[in-house]
Amino acid sequence: MNSNILVLGGTGKTGSRLVKHLQNKGIEPRIGSRNATPSFDWNDKDTWVKSLQAVERMYLTFYPDLAVPGAKEAIESLTYLAKELGVKKIVLLSGKGETEAEACEKIIVNSGVNYTIVRASWFNQNWSESFFLDPILTGEVALPMADVLIPFVDADDIAQVAATVLLDDTYNGEIVEVTGPELITFKDIVKTISTVTNRNLNFYDISLEQYVDGMREMELPDDVVWLMEYLFSHVLNNPENQNISHDIESVLGRKAKTFLKFAQEIHKTGVWSPKK
Ligand SMILES: NC(=O)c1ccc[n+]([C@@H]2O[C@H](COP(=O)([O-])OP(=O)(O)OC[C@H]3O[C@@H](n4cnc5c(N)ncnc54)[C@H](OP(=O)(O)O)[C@@H]3O)[C@@H](O)[C@H]2O)c1
Repeated sequence: MNSNILVLGGTGKTGSRLVKHLQNKGIEPRIGSRNATPSFDWNDKDTWVKSLQAVERMYLTFYPDLAVPGAKEAIESLTYLAKELGVKKIVLLSGKGETEAEACEKIIVNSGVNYTIVRASWFNQNWSESFFLDPILTGEVALPMADVLIPFVDADDIAQVAATVLLDDTYNGEIVEVTGPELITFKDIVKTISTVTNRNLNFYDISLEQYVDGMREMELPDDVVWLMEYLFSHVLNNPENQNISHDIESVLGRKAKTFLKFAQEIHKTGVWSPKK
């Protein structure tokens, strides 16, 4: 058992896939999450030391988002604790076009610990494992900013890049931008899923105000509504988020996964089949 690698969020979208890639290389990483043993909870600093004990390399994903109030302070405290406890390298999962995420990147960059920043655009898996799954299952997708171009990226590509840069010190000090190979809109995505699944999905182009009102009517928690509104109004709109990077190809020596390929794979799993 080799537990000197800690994967925070090791059961989440990128973390779980990174764990698998490491296991395929014969490495058994330690998982950092509330349900792991030892348990790691961002909201309980007393849990942090045990998870960091004897760790040399750490993949750092924050939950729910580096933009939320308190994230920067948590990243700062964890980074300095990690350094004190002997962590030699940190790979931070960051968000493309997010000012708050860049503030968190700076903490890692200035920490004196070796690092690689993996700066990601929005994940394909938001449509299969997260907030966009329910609308796909109901067949009624209502979203603002229907025509904004987004370089959706696959969590598996991110995880493979993370596995490489975590183990290979030639990437120390670098910011690796991970995006998909194409710019696509929400409208394109719903059309693609509709074609691949052979289901009739309705798409409604609504305003951000209507979207926020809808979330409030569904009685989603205030912090979730705040985060979604922030992501739509500050991240999606940011021109920096609307360009394609070729870093996945540079690191992995192959092209990033297209949304169509992702959709074909997910269709086969049955995740997009409405429950009867
Ligand atoms: N989703 C995107 O499109 C996107 C794009 C760019 C960047 N990012 C960044 O990626 C990061 C992760 O986002 P994600 O949506 O992909 O989430 P995720 O990794 O799927 O999050 C779930 C993971 O977080 C753990 N977790 C949840 N609450 C926790 C807590 N209080 N303490 C410790 N662990 C906790 C969960 O395990 P337990 O339940 O066992 O605790 C699970 O392992 C965020 O910082 C976000 O800014 C996301």
